Amino acid sequence: MASVDEANEDLVSSTIEEANNDDVVSSYTAEHLGPEFYNNANSYWSEIPATVDGMLGGFSHLSDNDVIESKDTILEYFVGPNARLSPDLALDCGAGIGRVSKRLLLQIFKQVELVEQNPIFLKKAKSYLKAYKQRVIAYHAVGLQDFYPEPDRYSIIWCQWVLAHLTDKDMMEFLDRSRIALQHKGLIVAKENVVKEVEERLFHKDDSSQTRSCKVFKELFAKAGLKLLKEVKQGNFPPGMLEIRTFVLAFD
Ligand SMILES: C[S@@+](CC[C@H](N)C(=O)[O-])C[C@H]1O[C@@H](n2cnc3c(N)ncnc32)[C@H](O)[C@@H]1O
Repeated sequence: MASVDEANEDLVSSTIEEANNDDVVSSYTAEHLGPEFYNNANSYWSEIPATVDGMLGGFSHLSDNDVIESKDTILEYFVGPNARLSPDLALDCGAGIGRVSKRLLLQIFKQVELVEQNPIFLKKAKSYLKAYKQRVIAYHAVGLQDFYPEPDRYSIIWCQWVLAHLTDKDMMEFLDRSRIALQHKGLIVAKENVVKEVEERLFHKDDSSQTRSCKVFKELFAKAGLKLLKEVKQGNFPPGMLEIRTFVLAFD
């Protein structure tokens, strides 16, 4: 196994922003850090402005393309031969200030709940989503690793740019809890940065996150008992950024 000091030579990014190479190491997993993994991420995000730009690492102008593609990706699950979702309640995981809730989920689902580890982002979300006050029914101020959702509750569990912040073990346990929390025929959507197949994963010291490869994601999803219904590569993003994949997943 490579040592923690072996910095990766490639220019990669930690969320979607470009990161300093010194902050990136390969062949190193979150499990090495134990509780510090979550404390570091917490400190990192506490310094980030509660704005759309803050959520997107300075790339707020890419928010439109992101949302358009997400919408296109899931529409087939409401109408036509693949219809299976009812537009009831969505859970926005790692919601930040509620960008995904506002632009995507509240445009489709009747109600939304947010779960987010940073209370300052959630406070901002309350004003950012003010126009939807009646339809945002809960703000859960807790890390996903400690979130225990109620059974049989959500039509969709949307995880965007947050699974990188969970250890494999915690991600698997969260997926297991999600199995119970989803309504019949509900879906999990994971929209995350990915590294090329050869790189199993990259660990980012600055924000305490890990970028997994598609292969790693798929192995973990399969191990969790999830079926991959669809995989979409984000288009219309500038070159030089990490690839972004949307995985649409179901337990049945
Ligand atoms: C890159 S931002 C993405 C925000 C939002 N999903 C979006 O796309 O606009 C990552 C978010 O994940 C949150 N986060 C980090 N670690 C988390 C954890 N363990 N549990 C829940 N949220 C977490 C951060 O506080 C931040 O709001």
